[in-house]
Amino acid sequence: MINNYQHNTVLLHEAVNSLHIKPNGIYIDATFGSGGHAKLILSKLNKNGKLIVVDRDPSAIKVACSTLDNRCYIIYDNFSNMIKYIRQLNLLGHIDGVLLDLGISSIQLDDSNRGFSYMKNGPLDMRMNNTTGYTAGYWLNHAKYNDIYSVLYNLGEEYYAKYISKSICKFRKHHSIINTIDLSKIITRSYKSINKHSKRHPATKSFRAIRMFINQELEEIKLLLSHISHILSSNGILSIISFHSLEDRIIKNFMSPITTTNNAYSFSVNQQSILKISKDKKFKFLKKIKPSSNEIINNRRSRSAILRIAQKIY
Ligand SMILES: C[S@@+](CC[C@H](N)C(=O)[O-])C[C@H]1O[C@@H](n2cnc3c(N)ncnc32)[C@H](O)[C@@H]1O
Repeated sequence: MINNYQHNTVLLHEAVNSLHIKPNGIYIDATFGSGGHAKLILSKLNKNGKLIVVDRDPSAIKVACSTLDNRCYIIYDNFSNMIKYIRQLNLLGHIDGVLLDLGISSIQLDDSNRGFSYMKNGPLDMRMNNTTGYTAGYWLNHAKYNDIYSVLYNLGEEYYAKYISKSICKFRKHHSIINTIDLSKIITRSYKSINKHSKRHPATKSFRAIRMFINQELEEIKLLLSHISHILSSNGILSIISFHSLEDRIIKNFMSPITTTNNAYSFSVNQQSILKISKDKKFKFLKKIKPSSNEIINNRRSRSAILRIAQKIY
């Protein structure tokens, strides 16, 4: 069944090898997607090994339910909540490795009904869990100018955030922004009006920023990191693949051998919560891995990936 889906797993062997799988160990794949990493982890476990998989997308959970065997627990929730389930399973401090492969899968991106892509017309949704919360369309039609600007500028690092936000607010005075194509056209027109020719599609950064905001992606990582030391066993491995410089900065700071202040983790849009990260447990940074040129040629999506690996030590 997994083979019917077309997500090209990024850094498949590098990420799974980084966990140093013990055949009877207990592992978590906190971003199941279509199960590329999970399937390889399972192939290295014996009948006593356990794999806990997490995803907040109901369609990923459907795949998990139809493909995984009885060595697995499936959690349909945000990974920031997984500590609750690990506690219920009485496994706090007993997890040998946690893997995260952040962002969205190609399956989510390619499905026009999910509204993640400016290349495909569809409802402007962008929720990873499309059963809860507000859609990107709802937010864009109701948010204040300053909030839109802040998301595009801070999360998208979009230099033309001001022009684009103004165009969005102007457009929605007369029409609702409903589909991906509406937003893509507004952004493209803003670029043209400032005579900017971009090598990338002009909507790239804005779409990614709005997706990150709607799904609270940075907050999710920060929350998980704030309690990951309670989940992992001593010497347990944390491996994270990120695709965005802001994500990578949070992970890099967390894994840094130098003790940093809590402020190092603080990134907030609209003065949202500034998280206090517990520094009582320390992690030892082990390695950073980027995809090979071969992988990048075969899977363009992998080009911005960075895998960072750390080990919990006492
Ligand atoms: C890049 S894909 C993972 C692909 C997977 N490693 C594979 O090989 O098929 C990321 C997945 O993580 C899920 N996800 C992202 N952020 C999440 C979060 N905060 N909580 C739970 N799931 C999340 C997405 O729904 C998506 O299915």
